[in-house]
Amino acid sequence: MFTMETAPDGRVLLRRPDDAPPAPVRATAMVFEDPASRALLRRMEQLAPTDADVLIIGETGTGKELVARHLHDCSGRRHRPFIAVNCGAIAETLVESELFGHEKGAFTGALSAKAGWFEAADGGTLFLDEIGDLPPAQQVKLLRVLQEREVVRVGSRRSIPVDVRVITATNVKLEEAVRTGRFRQDLYYRIKVGSLILPPLRDRPGDVLPLVDHFLTLYGRRLGRRAVRLAPDAVQALLDHDWPGNIRELENVVHTALVTAAGDMLTRADVQLSLPVDARTEQPCVAAALRGSFNALFEADVPDLFGRVTDALVRSAYEYCGGNQVQAAKMLGISRNVLRGHLARLGMIPARNR
Ligand SMILES: Nc1ncnc2c1ncn2[C@@H]1O[C@H](COP(=O)(O)OP(=O)(O)OP(=O)(O)O)[C@@H](O)[C@H]1O
Ligand SMILES: [Mg+2]
Repeated sequence: MFTMETAPDGRVLLRRPDDAPPAPVRATAMVFEDPASRALLRRMEQLAPTDADVLIIGETGTGKELVARHLHDCSGRRHRPFIAVNCGAIAETLVESELFGHEKGAFTGALSAKAGWFEAADGGTLFLDEIGDLPPAQQVKLLRVLQEREVVRVGSRRSIPVDVRVITATNVKLEEAVRTGRFRQDLYYRIKVGSLILPPLRDRPGDVLPLVDHFLTLYGRRLGRRAVRLAPDAVQALLDHDWPGNIRELENVVHTALVTAAGDMLTRADVQLSLPVDARTEQPCVAAALRGSFNALFEADVPDLFGRVTDALVRSAYEYCGGNQVQAAKMLGISRNVLRGHLARLGMIPARNR
């Protein structure tokens, strides 16, 4: 079991018993300040010492791998291996032999027998990241391993017992994958028994400043910039941001600011944040590209700018789509009827054809 400690600067630190070897810096210095994070911490405390398999669900950058490592570090398996495998990063043809191993000559190129990740993690924890990307054939095999606790190498018929705690993670809604048949329902039910949901950072606003402080300390130390502080406008900008990339995004923002800002007081200009949600859904690159041209037209004081731009847009889309009205309407985000109205007005189709 591990204990919670509050550091002098107010951060919550997770500590393991003295008899355990020290954990990596990051695992002992996770930030859990917001009530939502504290609830998560309690759930982790419950799950860590049990041998239950755990499914970690969370958007990108919410700390799934860190939490998986931490569950391992706080379990009785901490002196044994922790192996992280990204299921989405292995070529589909290699997944089976990577996970379950293969015998010599099992396939072209299998020059010698090789243990898979399950055998390598024996006694410890195997973290299967992006579990939703596991090909269907391997999903059946994984289910079997979880139930029987034994693996069969490719090219062999012999079962090898394995003692592995399996922690899986996903940043997509697996229910959706189950519904569309991309993920086996039986496997889903099996892995989600002990699930841990990591809320996005925008739903745990109380963590933002403690995390900023945490990364200022971490990178400040590494970069020899310990004196760096945040100006009030920078603090406000960080609090107002919605953090689509979650904790990783925040970490990068702080790191970049420390690397690029000259002074010891970081201002709003030093923290480079991604665009707010509204601008993102408007496809910021399109808006940004057009803004320059519009500014030039405003300066030239062009009359009826809206009408002219609309006409140009309609003409271009219609021509671009080779006269296909359905396609052009879709591209412009308007109905076919509205498009026809414009085309008729522009004399591009006979008015009666509307
Ligand atoms: N509670 C936390 N306290 C401090 N640092 C954290 C915390 N959670 C995550 N981090 C840090 O944020 C970064 C992203 O975490 P991690 O890689 O575990 O996210 P992830 O959910 O696995 O992301 P992805 O889905 O993109 O793989 C890491 O550098 C990690 O150390
Ligand atoms: Mg990850």
